[in-house]
Amino acid sequence: MFRRMSAFWDLAYLTGSTPWDSDEPSKELVELIESGVIKPCRALDIGCGTGSNVIFLATKGFEAHGLDISKVALLKAMRRAEARGAKCYFHNLDFRDVKKVSRLGIFDLAIDVGCYHSLPHGGDRISYLDSLNEVLRRGGDYLIWCFVRGAGFSWGPPGVEEYEVERNFGSRYALIEKRKIRTPFRDLLFYHMQRVG
Ligand SMILES: C[S@@+](CC[C@H](N)C(=O)[O-])C[C@H]1O[C@@H](n2cnc3c(N)ncnc32)[C@H](O)[C@@H]1O
Repeated sequence: MFRRMSAFWDLAYLTGSTPWDSDEPSKELVELIESGVIKPCRALDIGCGTGSNVIFLATKGFEAHGLDISKVALLKAMRRAEARGAKCYFHNLDFRDVKKVSRLGIFDLAIDVGCYHSLPHGGDRISYLDSLNEVLRRGGDYLIWCFVRGAGFSWGPPGVEEYEVERNFGSRYALIEKRKIRTPFRDLLFYHMQRVG
């Protein structure tokens, strides 16, 4: 399971078929940190790719951890972090592997730009949630960005239904903010949630 999914992502990073890889931290994350809403803490970027957000967090004083299933992405992330003098901790893991993920310890902040929405619907997303519940402390912040499913495009990640995140995370996560961002590709949903249960 790990090997097939990691090979898919490794190939994307090796061939440069990575249109999401902007080398810029996410605007909403920058806003929340620069306004002081989220303060330096122990943070995990789930599906960190080549590390734009982890590196940003490290430069802002966070204990910044990036996790990704792709070794190729992580090698690029490590090189970038080193070149910028950012102290980051990288982990080559499948976030669906609850047992291994739980060894990372507890985080105060978890972010996900495009990992959850790329998983197939069903058991993979349930395992993802189990892992998140293992590592995010109660009261911790969770930020997630997902493309809305379909919306005129038949290719790209499976995405999420308009209210899927509320439905799947709802009982244990309180919604602080939801934004719908128009992009030339599909609509992007951004959620800021806090773990309550
Ligand atoms: C669309 S990319 C986004 C990368 C990065 N967050 C960014 O914004 O540049 C999705 C990332 O999730 C990673 N990923 C996909 N499935 C994963 C899984 N099961 N466990 C950990 N990482 C995964 C991929 O390797 C890829 O780097």
